[in-house]
Amino acid sequence: LKLGILASGNGSNFAAVAEAIAQGKLNAQIQVLIYNNPDAKAAIRAKNRGIPAKLLNHRDFAAREDLDAQIVKTLREYDVEWVIMAGWMRIVTSILINAFPNRIINIHPSLLPSFKGVRAIEQALAAKVKITGCTAHFVSLEVDSGTILVQAAVPILPDDTPETLHARIQVQEHRILPQAIALAASQY
Ligand code: GRF
Repeated sequence: LKLGILASGNGSNFAAVAEAIAQGKLNAQIQVLIYNNPDAKAAIRAKNRGIPAKLLNHRDFAAREDLDAQIVKTLREYDVEWVIMAGWMRIVTSILINAFPNRIINIHPSLLPSFKGVRAIEQALAAKVKITGCTAHFVSLEVDSGTILVQAAVPILPDDTPETLHARIQVQEHRILPQAIALAASQY
């Protein structure tokens, strides 16, 4: 599987996919990392692993479609088959989605369909639910609404802050994202 990863920030999910590949748990290669924030730690992680990292700064594009067209062009240049959104904090358009039909996977920090969109962890805390988690799903035009591939649940503890809860969720994200990629690919 030739993967292209989109990340905006820390990139721990990017690293988890790279690690699953290195450990032989996922039969894939990361062709390229695309990042949109110049200071994304994900870019450093990619460079440390010898993976090409391409900055496509959304601030340089007039419209979401223009950014997505450049993303598609870059993914094609790197011969990418599967697109993994690992903390990609931009809304994607039909330009990207139609270029990779049923081949874009996202990781979201809630048990979808609960708590879609931004600040999912804060939403879960505010709702006072006792269990939340993460979801790896196919990307469709409607945000956080595509077919679910893998989910994992975690408890919310009485003293949780957004940070402690996020850390607990991320342990599970790092486990299920590589699983979801393998599952999605096995359906082809
Ligand atoms: C993850 O919690 C993911 O669910 C959300 O953004 C976060 C990215 O974390 N979409 P990281 O950059 O992979 O560490």
